[in-house]
Amino acid sequence: PERPYVIDEMISAKAIAARIEELAGEIRHEFADTDKLVVVGLLRGSFVFIADLVRELNLPIEVDFLEASSYGNAMQSSREVRILKDLRGAIEGRDVLVVEDIVDTGHTLNHVSGMLRSRNPARLRTIALLDKPSRREVDFRSDWIGFEIPDEFVVGYGIDFAQRNRNLPFIGKVRFTDAEG
Ligand code: PRP
Ligand code: MN
Ligand code: MG
Repeated sequence: PERPYVIDEMISAKAIAARIEELAGEIRHEFADTDKLVVVGLLRGSFVFIADLVRELNLPIEVDFLEASSYGNAMQSSREVRILKDLRGAIEGRDVLVVEDIVDTGHTLNHVSGMLRSRNPARLRTIALLDKPSRREVDFRSDWIGFEIPDEFVVGYGIDFAQRNRNLPFIGKVRFTDAEG
């Protein structure tokens, strides 16, 4: 049986939307001269962020998705990243923006960006809505970060706890309410 918990709001839907507007402005500036930007979402956590971000990007874009091996229902990183679903399109010579919900240990985005870089894109940049630098296990920094957060168990806006709560419109913090919590 699941431990009982409540979710406390940490970053409001309004604050997320405002930050996305700012980030979109920077991305538009960086890729102002692009003929086409391939925006790559990492499944599944990025699906809400990428949907909101691309609608603020007034650029010619294509959307593609990639799935890397997941923590599954575990709370711990396996540290070993495998590609479960690759991109549909080739990215050689293209401008690419990889969109991620959160950088925790850094293994996922580090591995994925290394793999995509080996395909020789023209430009490759990464954006993550959240960053937990205190958890980093590899030397990785995303080009853009929405919010730097402390080491809390977060859910919502695409991020799950055992596959649940991805549909919350805000970022919340899980607080266990049983004796051990
Ligand atoms: C989570 C999150 C990031 C990754 C970050 O994905 O969405 O992709 O972990 O962790 P890391 O920096 O330690 O690698 P998860 O594997 O849970 O899959 P999901 O996106 O399908 O939830
Ligand atoms: Mn993920
Ligand atoms: Mg997950």
